[in-house]
Amino acid sequence: MNLRTSILLLFLAGVKNTSATNMLGFDIFGDSSKFDPSDSITVDPDTCEYHAEVHINFGAADPPFPSGPDDCTMESTACNGQSCLYEIRNAYKLSKAFRKYTGFNHVGLDWSPCGHPPLDKFGKPHWNMHIFRVSPKAREEVYCEDMLNPFICDFMEEQPNIEGRKFFVHGTDKDGNLANVPASFSAALDTAVPGEGVHAWDIEGTVDVSAWLEPVLIEGLYDGRIQFWEPMFPVEFVTGDSEKFYESNETYVSKTIVSLPSYWSMTYNPDTGVTTLVIEGKAQICPKNSKGGKSGKSSRIRK
Ligand SMILES: *[C@@H]1O[C@H](CO)[C@@H](O)[C@H](O)[C@H]1NC(C)=O
Repeated sequence: MNLRTSILLLFLAGVKNTSATNMLGFDIFGDSSKFDPSDSITVDPDTCEYHAEVHINFGAADPPFPSGPDDCTMESTACNGQSCLYEIRNAYKLSKAFRKYTGFNHVGLDWSPCGHPPLDKFGKPHWNMHIFRVSPKAREEVYCEDMLNPFICDFMEEQPNIEGRKFFVHGTDKDGNLANVPASFSAALDTAVPGEGVHAWDIEGTVDVSAWLEPVLIEGLYDGRIQFWEPMFPVEFVTGDSEKFYESNETYVSKTIVSLPSYWSMTYNPDTGVTTLVIEGKAQICPKNSKGGKSGKSSRIRK
């Protein structure tokens, strides 16, 4: 290959990347630093159970709000120069140990100023705390050539590209049940969001938007995998003068992703403005027993 060909290929590779980014139609990286984010994890070497925390100051990010219904139209430019219908995304990269033991890669601190469909359930300002199992780079390849509207992929026709078809391939067990999600979950095909996946949650059990105050668990599906695990909560949960607390245990249908949280809680501290997400579960790998090296290892094998 001569130099000119190499340069041409490099150029084309660059163009391809850019077009994939443009396919998403939005920036997934944003700026997470304004949330003053941090995380921590401890893993019990005997049980392999992890306890992990993510600390986020949602108020410090000062998210834009629509001033009225007109801002929730395509013509509006009221939310950071664009329509408040668009989600505003910010990716926070989790620490190395957090990634290693939980399998989670980064957190999308994603603000939905007007809410999003189904509007009778989620049509008010809220946070989508997408905890992705894949890198931001991998998310740039999650796009459709056929969009139904600016926000979601067309789910009624077969997508022409492989990346688009992957939205509608979901992991199920031998009985046809969606795997690695709670038994109450089902997938809503009309939620295939580029950069994310198809959303699954307890569709029947979700309260109406007028009563929505607490976190709701959502999971993202793409190409048979679980793309993200997401607490989604209205802005009321992470603002105001009183402490907020929510907790839940989770069990998953035909669980094959061992590290999915079996317990989680969220606490909003009005004094600091910080919200703490706690997740607990089985680490996807066990930490090596302190310094012991070989002896630690062989005793574990015997168990
Ligand atoms: C979660 O499970 C633990 C252990 O079984 C139980 O003590 C606790 O009450 C449960 N919490 C919730 C919120 O259901």
